[in-house]
Amino acid sequence: MKNPFDLTGKSVFVSGASSGIGKATAVLLSSLGASLTISGRNVQRLDETFQILEGEGHRQIICDFCDYDDTAAKIADTNKFDGVVYCIGTQKTGVAKSLTANDLKEVFDTNFNAVVNLNTLLFEGKKINKGASVVIVSSIAAYYPEVGNAAYSASKGALSAFAKVLALESAKRQIRVNTVSPAMVRTPLLQKFDVTDEQFAENEKKYPLGYSEPEDVAAAIAFLLSDGARQITGADIKIDGGLTLQ
Ligand SMILES: NC(=O)c1ccc[n+]([C@@H]2O[C@H](COP(=O)([O-])OP(=O)(O)OC[C@H]3O[C@@H](n4cnc5c(N)ncnc54)[C@H](OP(=O)(O)O)[C@@H]3O)[C@@H](O)[C@H]2O)c1
Repeated sequence: MKNPFDLTGKSVFVSGASSGIGKATAVLLSSLGASLTISGRNVQRLDETFQILEGEGHRQIICDFCDYDDTAAKIADTNKFDGVVYCIGTQKTGVAKSLTANDLKEVFDTNFNAVVNLNTLLFEGKKINKGASVVIVSSIAAYYPEVGNAAYSASKGALSAFAKVLALESAKRQIRVNTVSPAMVRTPLLQKFDVTDEQFAENEKKYPLGYSEPEDVAAAIAFLLSDGARQITGADIKIDGGLTLQ
């Protein structure tokens, strides 16, 4: 009997693979047999991920997805994919009543616009195979409010809503689209929060299972990419250590 979670023979594109969740995802997917195209902006850190992938035949793309011309050129040059993981993101804190257009632009440019643009290039460029699985890394911020998180929350809310429409429109080609929504995950992104180490540790007490590690999110992504999830589309997997149970 074939293991439904085995990814052997699947070609998967992982964006944001130079750090954090994307890096852990790339490493896990390679261990499950996937053939990967990984992307990031930082040459050295992306290569560090590349060097620890299992298996052969993986590729790297250095690209800032906010640069639409370069993104179009790089995507035109890729192979076709059975799986795509959108795992790029940024964070900027600030209370809702004081948000400026520039704050919103900074966060939405990366968290929403660049992802949607990349997705359009992949779909319109016929780079996504029939039966493929698309996984979008959103956040519990899309539906769980926290003080100072308005711009990020709005960008992830937009992304989660976009994912559901894309799921509906893509089903006719058996393409599945799902989101994962982590709460706090120990990655370099957390350095963008304006909090002390003490505040950070105090906040973790709200989490029944504690903060997540990047590997915890990677495991959910791997499941959604696998044939084990072949009837799952338009869904969201919340990975929040129990935070939102209370
Ligand atoms: N960490 C958390 O607590 C948490 C919680 C919920 C959701 N998330 C989401 O998880 C995803 C990954 O975050 P992370 O925590 O792993 O953060 P991270 O460690 O900072 O990694 C972010 C990744 O995104 C890439 N990236 C950012 N802007 C880009 C751009 N314009 N073009 C191309 N690549 C770009 C970075 O590339 P370079 O480093 O090469 O520049 C890096 O690989 C994000 O969508 C984030 O919002 C994180």
